[in-house]
Amino acid sequence: MGRLSGTVRVPGDKSIGHRALMLAALAEGRSIVRGLGAGADLASTRRVLEALGVACHDEADAVVVEGVGLRGLRPTDAALDCGNSGTTMRLMTGILAGQAGRFVLDGDASLRRRPMRRVADVLAPLGADVRPAADGRPPVQVNGGPLRGATVRPPVASAQLKSAALLAGLLAEGPTTVVESGPSRDHTERMLGGRGVDLAVDGLRVTVRPPERLPATDARLPGDLSSAAFWLAACALAPGSDLRLVDVGLNPTRTGFLDVLEAMGATVERADVEDWCGEPVGTLRLRCDGLVGADIGGDLALRALDELPLVALLAATARGETRVRDAAELRVKESDRIAAMAEGLRALGARVDTTPDGWAIEGVPRLGGGSVRAHDDHRVALAFTVAGLVADGPVILDDPACAAVSYPGFAAALHERWSTDR
Ligand code: S3P
Repeated sequence: MGRLSGTVRVPGDKSIGHRALMLAALAEGRSIVRGLGAGADLASTRRVLEALGVACHDEADAVVVEGVGLRGLRPTDAALDCGNSGTTMRLMTGILAGQAGRFVLDGDASLRRRPMRRVADVLAPLGADVRPAADGRPPVQVNGGPLRGATVRPPVASAQLKSAALLAGLLAEGPTTVVESGPSRDHTERMLGGRGVDLAVDGLRVTVRPPERLPATDARLPGDLSSAAFWLAACALAPGSDLRLVDVGLNPTRTGFLDVLEAMGATVERADVEDWCGEPVGTLRLRCDGLVGADIGGDLALRALDELPLVALLAATARGETRVRDAAELRVKESDRIAAMAEGLRALGARVDTTPDGWAIEGVPRLGGGSVRAHDDHRVALAFTVAGLVADGPVILDDPACAAVSYPGFAAALHERWSTDR
């Protein structure tokens, strides 16, 4: 067995990156966004904004965005290509609902399978005219126009739905309130507050009052905890590893995976925590000599949502049983992640049962090699890249390239930090 060592800096946070680009586009004047990852999803947001008349250019390690003002996006005849990115499509739907003109948002085959009726429903009380295709999926037509503030209750706890409503609320007449059923990630709230927008948070209730204008604001993105999670999982599966992950975002609405690791018997050390543009950032180090099964559900499952595929991987060789509940949203991500992880893990010899909202997994001593499908889903591909490092035989992934949606170069970086005693 090998181990990982060294210091790693992961790509900039994808969720914050989308929002930084969008808010820079809606601001007045020039904003500089530093630390944007090279993943395809952020390129999709940039491409959509450019198609709407926002000038962006690269400068050293930054992207410079020339804001067009809150209502300055220009309609275009061509469909706006959101690629694989649900965040781009849902957040832009909120923004475009309040612009003058007609817009069409579309995406790749995976995005075209994802539910968009829910964003139309969330924006309807504001008077937004948002029309997905008849099956409730993309392409989404947005007939932009004046909006009025309203109170909305998204049907599921989702930062994308909440953010679509808050961004539309920037353009509405009067305040907009979102009442959530659970604590979804709060980057939009932090960033709007940091730009001087009148925003009040009271538990699961957030109210935004439309500003006259948004000031241009530079942003520096923390490393993406969802990308750091692949390294942490690899360390947990390779005892004796000693890796430092530096400048990682530690927003408490995102750190569920760290709590899951601890519940499964690992120790996660946090150091050098500081504030970057309203977000906590720090260094992570994981110690682990064997994992045990755990019961994961409720708010913890929500705070670890994007990392639950990795929890399934960890559970596959943890001692005892792991249950993951309350994660039905995984079925409508870039793939049906409950089914995709179960299929792949079984191919490697794991004992996995699926439930409508998660898995029941009985740990086996070791994973073997096998052929695994990524299902067009970067997080599935990345999770099985980690599996390939620690399995007893080769793990053959049908589409490793789809990992580039969030983490281009991960497999090579992982192998660079890996050493065996042989
Ligand atoms: C995201 C929110 C989450 C997450 C996605 C990114 C965001 O989706 O799964 O990867 O940036 O707002 P939901 O909030 O819709 O579940």
